[in-house]
Amino acid sequence: MLAYGFDMGIVIAIDGPAGAGKSTIARRLAEQLGFTYIDTGAMYRAVALWALRQKLEPTDMHRMEQLAQAASIELATETNRIILNGEDVSEAIRQPEISEAASRVAAIPAVRRSMVAKQREIAENANVVMEGRDIGSVVFPDARVKIFLDADPGERVRRRAGQAGEPDTAAVHRQLAERDHRDRTRAEAPLAQAPDAIYVDSTNLSIDDVLEALLKLVRARMTNGKVYH
Ligand code: DC
Repeated sequence: MLAYGFDMGIVIAIDGPAGAGKSTIARRLAEQLGFTYIDTGAMYRAVALWALRQKLEPTDMHRMEQLAQAASIELATETNRIILNGEDVSEAIRQPEISEAASRVAAIPAVRRSMVAKQREIAENANVVMEGRDIGSVVFPDARVKIFLDADPGERVRRRAGQAGEPDTAAVHRQLAERDHRDRTRAEAPLAQAPDAIYVDSTNLSIDDVLEALLKLVRARMTNGKVYH
């Protein structure tokens, strides 16, 4: 592990579409750096799960706003568990219907405001590798390092279908394309590469290759005259 002699509050932002490898890469990068890994998609998923359980219509903006504000979401980073209102929902939020619902609730501006505030609060007292869709563009426009991790749609479908053990790749393709389209075209904080983000195409790279490339980038940006060992 690399121990950097830095103050708290360093942010490494990793954005990109579903299936590009963000979670795996961000988690491993955080481990290597001794930073805290934050999966912001899990936060939107937790809000979506609660809304579904409450039978809330995503179009009911007012109640969605209240629900997002009231949600207690803990990211237990050591154990990689997601706790919603005291309940471990780590598995529940990975269901396909929650992926779809999360993408819908994430388009609601008031929901985003609540989540962004929580994300900024987390980074006040920690060095973080934070992954999502708008981390480098909106949440932390001054992040120390910004990566936009992408891959060909076909490869992203293969990875997602593999992870989910889902043989029907046509269905996965449809779901992913729909979600991507919604995430990229929504009015508020759409998925977009920040102008100063580094574009990394992981289509033909192994996880280790991507990790190595990112570690090089991070080292170059972070040493900045300071010492690390
Ligand atoms: O990363 P993920 O697939 O778990 O994210 C679930 C949904 O949440 C995704 O479709 C878009 C949304 N999301 C977002 O809008 N902004 C983020 N920072 C993270 C996720």
